[in-house]
Amino acid sequence: MSVSCGIDFGTTNSAAGVCVHDNCPKLLLLEGENVTIPSALFFDTKTNSVYFGRTAAEMYLMGEDGRYMRSLKRILGTELMGYHTQVGKQVLKFDKIISLFLTNIKNKLDIQAKTNVEHAVIGRPVHFRTNDIEGDKRAQNELEAIAKSIGFKHIEFQYEPIAAAFAHEEKLTSEKLACIIDIGGGTSDFTVIRLGPKLKYKTDRKNDILANSGIMIGGNDFDKRFSISSFMPILGRKTTYGPKLLTVPSSIYFELSEWSKINGAYASKNIAEAEEILSMSHSPGIYRRLLEVLYNNLGHKLLNTVENAKMSLTQQNHLEIQLDFLSDCPSVSLCKPMFEDAIMKDVHQIDVTLNECLTAAQIKPEQIELTILTGGSTQIELIQKQVTKKFPNAQIADTDKLSSVGLGLAYDAKRRFG
Ligand SMILES: Nc1ncnc2c1ncn2[C@@H]1O[C@H](COP(=O)(O)OP(=O)(O)OP(=O)(O)O)[C@@H](O)[C@H]1O
Ligand SMILES: [Mg+2]
Repeated sequence: MSVSCGIDFGTTNSAAGVCVHDNCPKLLLLEGENVTIPSALFFDTKTNSVYFGRTAAEMYLMGEDGRYMRSLKRILGTELMGYHTQVGKQVLKFDKIISLFLTNIKNKLDIQAKTNVEHAVIGRPVHFRTNDIEGDKRAQNELEAIAKSIGFKHIEFQYEPIAAAFAHEEKLTSEKLACIIDIGGGTSDFTVIRLGPKLKYKTDRKNDILANSGIMIGGNDFDKRFSISSFMPILGRKTTYGPKLLTVPSSIYFELSEWSKINGAYASKNIAEAEEILSMSHSPGIYRRLLEVLYNNLGHKLLNTVENAKMSLTQQNHLEIQLDFLSDCPSVSLCKPMFEDAIMKDVHQIDVTLNECLTAAQIKPEQIELTILTGGSTQIELIQKQVTKKFPNAQIADTDKLSSVGLGLAYDAKRRFG
């Protein structure tokens, strides 16, 4: 076997590495000069074509007519996988939609590797789903079936944080007891592992991996919390209607705050219900904006604004945003503590899961010599501060936060198939 690959199908971004003959594994260019591609698709209704990654996001944000989808990894293992859904002019099952996205990556892989690559190590979170063993198995089986359907013949899986560890191990000059903290868009995953320049040549690393843990909380959940607390009130959340001063239904605001559920929010029954409530609303000027979002399919645009605000608040403490896609252009004042308050409970759950990993490894935080922070959500200051405090004796490794898993999977592919 001379060519193999590693594929990191992420909730938000995907990356892939290729290993040709004895050469050093390298990352593939997946979209122009970029080694990552947003895990997003846009089905254009006018031309009946499908676009991927940044192009898909641009098409949607430019207002092209069609359906935008992201966070599909979160659907793996759920009952939605068996459903059909309207995309552009076609009706497709979710596994077909994921396979379209992965085929785009496989095509790039085959072109850059100059062969039909059949051997792949695919990344997976420690748990696709929380407290759902069956769903977790189903998710991996579904991903494996999709990978087979697009031409991979020999498929193995690896935990994403272990892959990130392998990518970083290449740079180590001495042995270290490391803790990998991978907080992405969909999940938070942890591994305690021994890494080192000699250990990397071992074919079996089982004894070096002390423990893994993971939970289905990630950047998508932070977006959701921030959206609900700071943005949905602008669309009338918690306002009242009717003679009994009832609070408007909240479920629609939750749907609009979850990437994988936004399209469902536009259902005609939701619109009919909102129209009826508007006629009795005590804050019609505010509640009307909810209908504007539903009529014009603006949910992704709004959640995109929330996500951008979240990212800006890693650089700055205050932010003023004008929602100029709504007709009365409401503005929202945000500050870092508002965001941190919104995600506090999730961050606590993540910390509990990290502690479970240390306990299972029978390691005290003070013993950890190296922490490897990967995944886009580790850029959040609150998380970085907690990690620094928790591991007082650890050096913090600088990795490429969005592509280290893809590269590490290719190193693993070289070890397994090479
Ligand atoms: N500067 C930033 N501040 C806060 N969050 C960020 C920042 N940059 C990226 N993110 C978040 O990181 C997440 C994406 O990270 P990443 O690409 O590592 O996830 P993923 O690998 O696709 O997901 P997963 O591994 O969970 O399936 C998104 O939720 C994104 O909003
Ligand atoms: Mg990831």
